[in-house]
Amino acid sequence: MESMADYAALAARLRALTEGERDEVALMATLACEIHHADDRFDWTGFYRVVAPRLLKIGPYQGGHGCLTIPFDRGVCGACARTGEAQIVPDVEAFPGHIACAASTRSELVLPVFAAGRRLMAVLDIDSDRPDAFTAEDADALAAILAETFGALP
Ligand code: SME
Repeated sequence: MESMADYAALAARLRALTEGERDEVALMATLACEIHHADDRFDWTGFYRVVAPRLLKIGPYQGGHGCLTIPFDRGVCGACARTGEAQIVPDVEAFPGHIACAASTRSELVLPVFAAGRRLMAVLDIDSDRPDAFTAEDADALAAILAETFGALP
């Protein structure tokens, strides 16, 4: 049987691991690791950081190497950064402008990461080698974890 993340347990573990930590890289690295290993569907898990107006740069991740730079007008990550909304892509080949970092990727979930005042600081990108791997339940549970972890940062 395949294992789907136990999001309540994941959130509790992350709360314990990151308590009192406010360093962005330390937080992103810990979340990338814990989220990645919490679910068999996740084949690449990582952050792209907003480093300049309309520009994303790779952050902490787990999995094979990712593209280093993604402009806001490209890819699923760019669409998420542009709109500030979660992107659930059941079939990456049907998504115009999808950036194929790994040829094995079939579906993706990308979530915005907001700091205080809804400042967009990054996006969280999760890629699966399985088609149609992600649900709204995944998006909601992970968005809650991101809000709890990053929502109060300056
Ligand atoms: N597929 C993403 C790019 C990032 S990687 O796959 C790690 C996209 O289209 O935004």
